[in-house]
Amino acid sequence: MKSKASAPGKVILFGEHFVVYGVKAILCSIDKRVTVTAEKTNERKISINSKIGKLDLEADKSIFEINSPLKPFYYLANKAIKNENSGIHIEIDSEIPLGAGLGSSSACCVAGAAAIFKLFGEISKEKILEYAIEAERTIFENTSGADCTVCTYGGIMEYDKNNGFKKIEDEPNFQLVIANSNIEHSTQSMVSNVKEFENKNKEKFSELSELESKLVEDVLKLVKENKIDEIGEKINQNQKYLEIIGISNNELTKMIKIGQESSFGAKITGSGGGGCIFTLTNESNLQQVLKKFKDSNYECFSSKIDFKGLNTF
Ligand code: MEV
Repeated sequence: MKSKASAPGKVILFGEHFVVYGVKAILCSIDKRVTVTAEKTNERKISINSKIGKLDLEADKSIFEINSPLKPFYYLANKAIKNENSGIHIEIDSEIPLGAGLGSSSACCVAGAAAIFKLFGEISKEKILEYAIEAERTIFENTSGADCTVCTYGGIMEYDKNNGFKKIEDEPNFQLVIANSNIEHSTQSMVSNVKEFENKNKEKFSELSELESKLVEDVLKLVKENKIDEIGEKINQNQKYLEIIGISNNELTKMIKIGQESSFGAKITGSGGGGCIFTLTNESNLQQVLKKFKDSNYECFSSKIDFKGLNTF
């Protein structure tokens, strides 16, 4: 018996890092997906196969013994077969660039939770999200839960740690151009660096959190009115806050400059230190922005909002 699920990657439009401290963020899912296929097996083993490697282990091991980026899948499979007399084989297929701030690990956790638990009966989206966040915590303990939430429900949404998510129902008329620095980064360590900044600069951080909060509220109004120029200015403003908390670097700054000069606005997305930046475009400047990044030899692509979220089949 096989079960299959796919989940989209994501872009944090506003509020990464600050969201870990309770500030509201705005996110959307993008039209690049991870697909996970899970199959029950007779042997009590968990085997996982993906482009980034394989894992083939006995079931019932403590999660602390597992040292692999595929650990969240082991966690989910082991949880699912706890009271079952079977094993699980998992296949992962992804279109989302890895470790680039585009939610590949969250999409894996969401699609993984859905495919694995569906082998044992019906399961709600709420429960899938809960298990996906638990799985993500095995590699990144302090997750705000924002990424898994948007990968589950899709679309564009506001999210805060304490109140969860609210979908933004107006369909914005923009497209994103995403450019990859190809500098690998670890979300866990970038979040720790920001924690250190917060510890050393309590007053400054709380002032920035207030500014970010206000900015997000302003953007929520602008999205309703589809004011793309003004949303772009807010994106550039948010980028300044991210630079102050120390998540940018020379390469990212160079890319942001190209983006800001050719589109409505550009900023880092996700934890920073590497990974991707995005720019806000529409049909008037999309091709020109892609050309600018390509001419400077950056890997880039245009992306639309995915409105489907988690899909099971
Ligand atoms: C990572 O995509 C986003 C962060 O805000 C961490 C989180 O929200 O868990 C940096």
